[in-house]
Amino acid sequence: MGTENRIASRESSHAIGFRSVTPEQYEQTLTAEGTIPSWLTGTYVVNGPAKFEAGDRSLSHWFDGFGMLHRFQFDGDHVHYRRRFVESGAYTHARDTDTLGYREFATDPSESCFDRAVSLLAPPSVTDNANGPLVRYGDRHVVTAESPGAIEFDPETLATVDRITFDDDLAGQISCAHPQYDPLTDETISVLTRIARQSSYTVVRIADGEREPISSIAVDRPCYMHSFALTPTYVVLVEFPYVVNPFTFRLSDRSFIEQFDWRPERGTRLLVFDRSSGRLLAQPRMDAFFALHHVNAFEQSDELLLDLLTYSTPEIVEAFSLDSIRTDRSSLPSGRLRRLRLTIDDWAVSSRSLAAHPLERPEIVGHRRTQPYQFVYGVGKRDTGSFYDRLLKVETTGSTTCWHEPATFPGEPTAVPAPAPGSEDDGVILSLVLDGSDERSFVLVLDGETFTELARMPLDHPIPYPRHGQYYSTDEC
Ligand SMILES: [Fe+2]
Repeated sequence: MGTENRIASRESSHAIGFRSVTPEQYEQTLTAEGTIPSWLTGTYVVNGPAKFEAGDRSLSHWFDGFGMLHRFQFDGDHVHYRRRFVESGAYTHARDTDTLGYREFATDPSESCFDRAVSLLAPPSVTDNANGPLVRYGDRHVVTAESPGAIEFDPETLATVDRITFDDDLAGQISCAHPQYDPLTDETISVLTRIARQSSYTVVRIADGEREPISSIAVDRPCYMHSFALTPTYVVLVEFPYVVNPFTFRLSDRSFIEQFDWRPERGTRLLVFDRSSGRLLAQPRMDAFFALHHVNAFEQSDELLLDLLTYSTPEIVEAFSLDSIRTDRSSLPSGRLRRLRLTIDDWAVSSRSLAAHPLERPEIVGHRRTQPYQFVYGVGKRDTGSFYDRLLKVETTGSTTCWHEPATFPGEPTAVPAPAPGSEDDGVILSLVLDGSDERSFVLVLDGETFTELARMPLDHPIPYPRHGQYYSTDEC
């Protein structure tokens, strides 16, 4: 093999992160190379797609893959690793029947014209495949899906505890993938989207095992909304012009996400709600853009500041199709950290870029959520081409620090503050990294301030590229 081919092979080796994992249940004790801070004694759990087929049927999209939890418990110089699939109805159906039984994000169970005709009379269930964020519903630990389905799990054993349903009549086929837990109020805020003749967004509060509406607004064409903004006083829904026609939604033979169209002429609308009363305060409009992930939002003086990672179009969604992500490393668009500034008295909105580097899978330290903050962590890549191949620490003033190692592909970073931190970045950054050259994964521990490596714990095999992670201190699980 010539030098050029060797380099190409190494650079495309992120594809090992999109293979189904075997065996399904596995445990291993990992040994640290380097020094783990003595105070790091909790548990790091990541969730992500880890099975990409049902029988001989291949799934289409990264978001379709069946969710698996991976647990890393820190214990001195060792880390105990364990994994387990999230036992959603979608996963257990596929496991037990070798067929696809639920409508996934970009894969529909109906394959033939006959199947589609039947599905018009008896539509298959929307997936409850919880392969996304790890959040809190009160004292319950849950993982969420792109549908209202959320699944409670045990952070110790990773066993599925309950498929969560709510005894209410709130309507919505989509629940925002990123509900937000507010530790100050011990409530979780989320958004339901209903796609029907009377479509709507409903902002809900989840507390004490119950879900209650904060506010609801009728919409003509609902958008695909993966996350939203929350401050102590406000909830802001950013309605991108990536919208679905509700009148053809149930009749279409296209998958869920394929039914959304990019309509830039609509622009982007911000729906600003008072979090307490639910009153819609304003709906300023901006230029057309798209985002998957909000970073943070907070109030400062007479302004509401809202940070998110934006794209000029929603092509990032298509770029995560498995055909594309496994083979085409040049088509992954670059998200940009952008700050929207809303003046609270007249709700005028302006925006500016906060950093020049492409950024995705953003994370901030938990105690700064909904508050003024200084640092965003995320994964980055060269401006054009390549998969996410570096970790970034971006100061909201724009300066950026990078961790990079050739042929490695870090997953979403998780910020863990030190006990009694002296500064916002006093602590460590955790990431599950794919090592493409050795075809295995390792847990990486970076110093939060210097962004240099403290330790790594290699596994003996690769773990599929994760979507989201969470750290639990010893008293949380
Ligand atoms: Fe997400």
